[in-house]
Amino acid sequence: MALLNILRYPDPRLHKVAKPVTEFGARLEQLVADMAETMYDAPGVGLAASQVDVHERVVVIDVSETHDALMVFVNPEIVWASEEKQVYDEGCLSVPGVYDGVERPARVKVRAVDQFNKPFEVEADGLLAVCIQHEMDHLMGKVFVEYLSPLKRNRIKTKLLKEERSGRRA
Ligand code: NI
Repeated sequence: MALLNILRYPDPRLHKVAKPVTEFGARLEQLVADMAETMYDAPGVGLAASQVDVHERVVVIDVSETHDALMVFVNPEIVWASEEKQVYDEGCLSVPGVYDGVERPARVKVRAVDQFNKPFEVEADGLLAVCIQHEMDHLMGKVFVEYLSPLKRNRIKTKLLKEERSGRRA
Protein backbone atom coordinates (compact mmCIF):
# COMPACT_ATOMS: atom_id res chain seq x y z
CA MET A 1 0.00 0.00 0.00
CA ALA A 2 1.06 3.56 -0.52
CA LEU A 3 0.04 7.04 0.46
CA LEU A 4 -1.06 9.06 -2.55
CA ASN A 5 -0.49 12.77 -3.08
CA ILE A 6 -3.71 14.76 -2.65
CA LEU A 7 -4.19 17.61 -5.14
CA ARG A 8 -4.93 20.96 -3.55
CA TYR A 9 -7.41 23.54 -4.74
CA PRO A 10 -7.05 25.49 -7.05
CA ASP A 11 -5.08 22.81 -8.93
CA PRO A 12 -6.75 22.68 -12.38
CA ARG A 13 -6.55 18.86 -12.40
CA LEU A 14 -9.33 18.86 -9.77
CA HIS A 15 -11.67 20.01 -12.52
CA LYS A 16 -11.17 17.05 -14.85
CA VAL A 17 -14.24 14.87 -15.38
CA ALA A 18 -13.65 11.25 -14.35
CA LYS A 19 -14.34 8.35 -16.72
CA PRO A 20 -16.28 5.22 -15.77
CA VAL A 21 -14.20 2.24 -14.66
CA THR A 22 -14.31 -0.51 -17.29
CA GLU A 23 -11.55 -2.83 -16.07
CA PHE A 24 -11.74 -4.61 -12.76
CA GLY A 25 -8.80 -6.45 -11.24
CA ALA A 26 -5.56 -5.98 -9.37
CA ARG A 27 -4.92 -2.41 -10.56
CA LEU A 28 -8.31 -1.16 -9.35
CA GLU A 29 -8.03 -3.09 -6.06
CA GLN A 30 -4.62 -1.48 -5.47
CA LEU A 31 -5.99 1.99 -6.25
CA VAL A 32 -8.86 1.48 -3.79
CA ALA A 33 -6.47 0.19 -1.07
CA ASP A 34 -4.13 3.16 -1.59
CA MET A 35 -7.03 5.64 -1.59
CA ALA A 36 -8.37 4.17 1.66
CA GLU A 37 -4.94 4.35 3.29
CA THR A 38 -4.54 7.96 2.11
CA MET A 39 -8.01 8.92 3.42
CA TYR A 40 -7.42 7.34 6.86
CA ASP A 41 -3.96 8.87 7.10
CA ALA A 42 -5.13 12.41 6.23
CA PRO A 43 -7.51 11.87 8.17
CA GLY A 44 -10.74 12.34 6.25
CA VAL A 45 -14.15 10.73 5.82
CA GLY A 46 -14.10 10.53 2.03
CA LEU A 47 -11.80 10.66 -0.97
CA ALA A 48 -12.49 10.69 -4.70
CA ALA A 49 -9.96 9.35 -7.22
CA SER A 50 -9.95 12.80 -8.89
CA GLN A 51 -8.25 14.16 -5.76
CA VAL A 52 -5.27 11.84 -6.26
CA ASP A 53 -5.07 12.69 -9.97
CA VAL A 54 -6.73 9.47 -11.15
CA HIS A 55 -9.67 10.48 -13.30
CA GLU A 56 -11.89 7.44 -12.93
CA ARG A 57 -15.22 7.08 -11.12
CA VAL A 58 -13.93 5.70 -7.80
CA VAL A 59 -14.82 6.97 -4.31
CA VAL A 60 -13.94 5.71 -0.81
CA ILE A 61 -15.91 6.79 2.26
CA ASP A 62 -15.86 5.93 5.96
CA VAL A 63 -18.12 8.03 8.16
CA SER A 64 -17.94 5.64 11.14
CA GLU A 65 -16.50 6.87 14.42
CA THR A 66 -14.33 3.78 14.66
CA HIS A 67 -12.86 4.13 11.12
CA ASP A 68 -13.54 0.50 10.31
CA ALA A 69 -16.50 0.71 7.94
CA LEU A 70 -14.96 1.42 4.56
CA MET A 71 -17.41 1.92 1.70
CA VAL A 72 -16.16 1.68 -1.88
CA PHE A 73 -18.20 3.19 -4.70
CA VAL A 74 -17.13 2.43 -8.26
CA ASN A 75 -19.19 4.05 -11.06
CA PRO A 76 -21.70 5.49 -8.55
CA GLU A 77 -24.97 7.01 -9.78
CA ILE A 78 -27.53 8.90 -7.73
CA VAL A 79 -30.85 7.27 -8.63
CA TRP A 80 -33.00 9.29 -6.25
CA ALA A 81 -32.65 12.49 -4.20
CA SER A 82 -35.10 13.89 -1.65
CA GLU A 83 -36.88 17.21 -2.16
CA GLU A 84 -35.90 17.99 1.42
CA LYS A 85 -32.54 19.74 1.73
CA GLN A 86 -30.00 20.01 4.52
CA VAL A 87 -27.16 22.45 5.08
CA TYR A 88 -23.94 20.91 6.35
CA ASP A 89 -20.57 22.49 7.13
CA GLU A 90 -18.36 20.74 4.61
CA GLY A 91 -14.61 20.42 4.44
CA CYS A 92 -12.34 18.78 1.88
CA LEU A 93 -8.88 17.24 1.94
CA SER A 94 -8.14 19.27 -1.22
CA VAL A 95 -9.14 22.53 0.53
CA PRO A 96 -7.36 22.18 3.89
CA GLY A 97 -8.53 24.31 6.79
CA VAL A 98 -11.71 25.54 5.08
CA TYR A 99 -15.23 24.63 6.27
CA ASP A 100 -18.45 26.17 5.00
CA GLY A 101 -22.13 25.41 4.71
CA VAL A 102 -23.43 23.74 1.55
CA GLU A 103 -27.08 22.92 0.90
CA ARG A 104 -27.83 19.56 -0.71
CA PRO A 105 -30.65 16.99 -0.77
CA ALA A 106 -30.99 15.50 2.72
CA ARG A 107 -31.33 11.92 1.47
CA VAL A 108 -30.10 10.14 -1.64
CA LYS A 109 -30.21 6.66 -3.07
CA VAL A 110 -27.01 5.57 -4.82
CA ARG A 111 -26.33 2.65 -7.09
CA ALA A 112 -22.72 1.52 -7.58
CA VAL A 113 -20.46 -1.50 -7.73
CA ASP A 114 -17.58 -2.24 -5.37
CA GLN A 115 -13.95 -2.81 -6.40
CA PHE A 116 -14.85 -6.43 -7.24
CA ASN A 117 -17.66 -5.31 -9.59
CA LYS A 118 -20.36 -6.43 -7.15
CA PRO A 119 -23.45 -4.20 -7.47
CA PHE A 120 -25.16 -2.61 -4.46
CA GLU A 121 -27.51 0.20 -3.52
CA VAL A 122 -27.37 2.50 -0.52
CA GLU A 123 -29.97 4.86 0.84
CA ALA A 124 -28.16 7.52 2.79
CA ASP A 125 -29.00 10.43 5.05
CA GLY A 126 -27.03 12.72 7.39
CA LEU A 127 -23.26 12.85 6.98
CA LEU A 128 -23.17 9.86 4.61
CA ALA A 129 -25.58 11.60 2.19
CA VAL A 130 -23.43 14.74 2.33
CA CYS A 131 -20.26 12.79 1.79
CA ILE A 132 -21.54 10.75 -1.16
CA GLN A 133 -22.72 13.89 -2.96
CA HIS A 134 -19.52 15.80 -2.15
CA GLU A 135 -17.31 12.98 -3.48
CA MET A 136 -19.46 12.46 -6.57
CA ASP A 137 -19.08 16.17 -7.33
CA HIS A 138 -15.30 15.62 -7.37
CA LEU A 139 -15.80 12.99 -10.09
CA MET A 140 -17.54 15.69 -12.15
CA GLY A 141 -14.62 18.06 -11.56
CA LYS A 142 -16.47 20.10 -8.97
CA VAL A 143 -15.02 21.20 -5.62
CA PHE A 144 -17.39 22.24 -2.79
CA VAL A 145 -16.07 25.83 -2.71
CA GLU A 146 -17.83 26.29 -6.06
CA TYR A 147 -21.11 26.37 -4.10
CA LEU A 148 -19.87 29.39 -2.13
CA SER A 149 -20.02 33.03 -3.21
CA PRO A 150 -17.33 34.23 -5.66
CA LEU A 151 -16.01 36.50 -2.92
CA LYS A 152 -15.50 33.62 -0.47
CA ARG A 153 -14.06 31.42 -3.19
CA ASN A 154 -11.49 34.04 -4.16
CA ARG A 155 -10.46 34.49 -0.54
CA ILE A 156 -9.97 30.73 -0.22
CA LYS A 157 -7.99 30.60 -3.47
CA THR A 158 -5.72 33.44 -2.35
CA LYS A 159 -5.16 31.87 1.07
CA LEU A 160 -4.28 28.44 -0.34
CA LEU A 161 -1.99 29.83 -3.04
CA LYS A 162 -0.17 31.89 -0.43
CA GLU A 163 0.27 28.79 1.77
CA GLU A 164 1.56 26.84 -1.19
CA ARG A 165 4.09 29.53 -2.07
CA SER A 166 5.36 29.58 1.50
CA GLY A 167 5.80 25.81 1.25
CA ARG A 168 3.35 24.91 3.98
CA ARG A 169 1.64 21.56 3.83
CA ALA A 170 -1.65 20.84 5.56
NI1 NI B 1 -13.54 16.87 -1.13
